[in-house]
Amino acid sequence: MNAKQSKNGEQRAESNRVFILDTTLRDGEQSPGFHLNATSKLRIARQLEKLGVDVIEAGFPSSSAGEFDACRRIAREIRSVAVTALARADRDEIDAVWRAIRDAQSPQIHVVMPVSDLHIERKLGLSRDEALKKGAEAIAYARSLCENVQYSAEDAGRAELDYVIEAVETMIALGANVINIADSTGYCVPSEFGEIVEQVIDRARGADGVLFSVHCHNDLGLATANAKAGIMAGARRVECTVNGIGERAGNTSLEEIVMLLRVRKARLGFETGVNTTEITRTSRLIAELTGTPVQPNKAVVGANAFAHAAAMQQDGILKDRASYEIMKPEDIGLAESRLVLTARSSRGAFRHRLAKLGLKTTHATDDAAWDRFLEVAGAKKEVTDDDLQQIVVLVETPSSMHARRDDDSDVADTLRHLIFG
Ligand code: KIV
Ligand code: ZN
Repeated sequence: MNAKQSKNGEQRAESNRVFILDTTLRDGEQSPGFHLNATSKLRIARQLEKLGVDVIEAGFPSSSAGEFDACRRIAREIRSVAVTALARADRDEIDAVWRAIRDAQSPQIHVVMPVSDLHIERKLGLSRDEALKKGAEAIAYARSLCENVQYSAEDAGRAELDYVIEAVETMIALGANVINIADSTGYCVPSEFGEIVEQVIDRARGADGVLFSVHCHNDLGLATANAKAGIMAGARRVECTVNGIGERAGNTSLEEIVMLLRVRKARLGFETGVNTTEITRTSRLIAELTGTPVQPNKAVVGANAFAHAAAMQQDGILKDRASYEIMKPEDIGLAESRLVLTARSSRGAFRHRLAKLGLKTTHATDDAAWDRFLEVAGAKKEVTDDDLQQIVVLVETPSSMHARRDDDSDVADTLRHLIFG
């Protein structure tokens, strides 16, 4: 379980607190191109602790000696957050998890076992009964080692509901106290996933005594919507990753689900313990250490998430930020939003930036500066502060200093020369 909770089942029914399990270091790290060494993992774990997640999934200890070592270092150092690590339904893997995380302040063993026929038959070559028995043995064994055991029903999104329920109640009876419903292939639509979670919670014996968690993949871009549907259906823990990294198209993105619950709290009624002002710092650290930049239009943490380029939006923002910003940049630890100057920008935004830079044009040169701006903007993707400095110098320079100032095309050449070198 995690460090900040006591009785799981009551929280499901009565609490509006949603717990965050961050799996950036496990599901996120196992995706192609995202490998992290032990030192980087430890740095990220420290930052996740500052961010205020409830559980850190440190990794998959049986996969390599380095991974085992990383998990153990995280478990030994991180004190205020629960630490978990993943095993399949296999004694050796469970032993590896326990040896890696037993020194954590609040350790939790995470065991995954598929519930869809596709996974059970094709991937594992088992029957449903055999899979259930194997999962049950694994949970019982994990529970003999550790008080807190999570069972993940892999590929629950494509499984037969009655079998998912049977598996869940079997694992609860054997002592699993967190039940994770996984849409492992990102297949479900939100109403469908919410229905699965609701049915499992309503029908599985013992559901009242455990914490329900959801784990959603983003193959159809629905991971955050599905996690939200799971919460609405009664789950009170979400597994997610910073920047939404993870297998294939990734996982529910931590920053998206956390800001969704915060921004729409009045409507949804939930909250997390995340210190949202650490979001930007965490996102940048992960991009830096994985060497994988965040896509510019990524919700919440993309470079464009608080950037405004078009005239209509810029005018709105200059009059009232709320016109186009549903959250404040400072709420996610970003200094300010950006008005990007392009050929689509408004004159108001242009003047605003000049004023911010302390650049003045006289009444007489105002139009000329704007014309020059449009000219530069037509030739470049973005007009920079340096460009603006040079535009103002140019238009403010006495005409005697320009050769043949009456010839506008020469002025433009001079300008291009000044700006583009
Ligand atoms: O996608 C998945 O099913 C997982 C499990 C380990 C929860 O990552
Ligand atoms: Zn996953």
